Amino acid sequence: RTRVLTGITTSGTPHLGNYVGAIRPAVNASRDPGVESFYFLADYHALIKVQDPARVQRSTLEIAATWLACGLEPDKVWFYRQSDVPEVQELTWFLTCVAGKGLLNRAHAYKAAVDKNREAGEDDDAGVSAGLFMYPVLMAADILLFNANRVPVGRDQVQHIEMARDFGQRFNHLYGDAAAQPFFVMPEAVIDENVATLPGLDGRKMSKSYDNTIPLFVPRETLKKLIYSIVTDSRAPGEAKDADNSNVFQLYQAFASVEETTAMRRAFADGIAWGEAKQALFERIDREIAPLRARYDELIARPADIEAILRDGARRVRETYAAPTLKTLREAVGLRDLS
Ligand code: TYM
Repeated sequence: RTRVLTGITTSGTPHLGNYVGAIRPAVNASRDPGVESFYFLADYHALIKVQDPARVQRSTLEIAATWLACGLEPDKVWFYRQSDVPEVQELTWFLTCVAGKGLLNRAHAYKAAVDKNREAGEDDDAGVSAGLFMYPVLMAADILLFNANRVPVGRDQVQHIEMARDFGQRFNHLYGDAAAQPFFVMPEAVIDENVATLPGLDGRKMSKSYDNTIPLFVPRETLKKLIYSIVTDSRAPGEAKDADNSNVFQLYQAFASVEETTAMRRAFADGIAWGEAKQALFERIDREIAPLRARYDELIARPADIEAILRDGARRVRETYAAPTLKTLREAVGLRDLS
């Protein structure tokens, strides 16, 4: 079966970008009987940015409840918390030892930090942790540990998946035998072209780091207020609007059918008022989200049940995949068999 895997960093409250970039495509893929799915909460990754334990825990609960509310069935997929699978860390080290430092120098998140320091006249690496630098290696371990074929993500994560291929290939090459099965399969990013990068309230990429997100599960009225606060240009009602450069339109497109999108494009050309376009956007999003929100509100009130699901998922995925794989890899690199 094709293996589909994706994760979300537990550094905040899930937002519409996470939903359309990762959660929705992943849950849809999991309904295909030809697919074996792996979904996890990336809490090791959260430590790179968040040093507030209460926030990591709250976010873990929220993201777990979100996956479940969005239709993930924990007995049909592998659903776990990254840090419950310590084999991820051990593989991270093996990959660290084959990863090119030069390649990591070019990782977007690290480069952005360096560029910011340069602009401010600081040392390149001022305030940059080794964790941020190593971020793509940890992510490669998540993916390669389970030999994922497909990884549904937003556009911002594509480079990381390319790096995972690079590290995996190097490991295969260094330790593998050309005649035998390679240790790792090469993962591919899966990107929904309609939503490659969902814009936030201010038009930049919707991101926790920019504080411009629309959280996935806020009360209806709050959702409406947030949508009405989306920044638009000052074109008046009746004036033609540029759909392709409008964040209102891009958000609409991420939720609407092809027909609805075509109709909205026409309405933009005909000069729909911003208020009217935002109302249509609000209604379209709420129509999809409302039933999920109701389930979320029930789930989030039962943290012990969620915790039990996560622990059980990690126990099973370790037993079935992570532990046997690490046994093979330890042997391959020349370490002692622990079993
Ligand atoms: P994270 O937590 O930043 O985001 C989770 C998922 O949501 C997608 N996403 C978006 N998609 C479209 N438009 C947006 N504005 C938007 N914002 C976020 C992200 O692309 C991502 O798919 N490193 C990852 C988590 C991770 C992971 C993995 C993912 C760790 N290990 C292994 C896949 C496979 C991250 O920080 O995503």
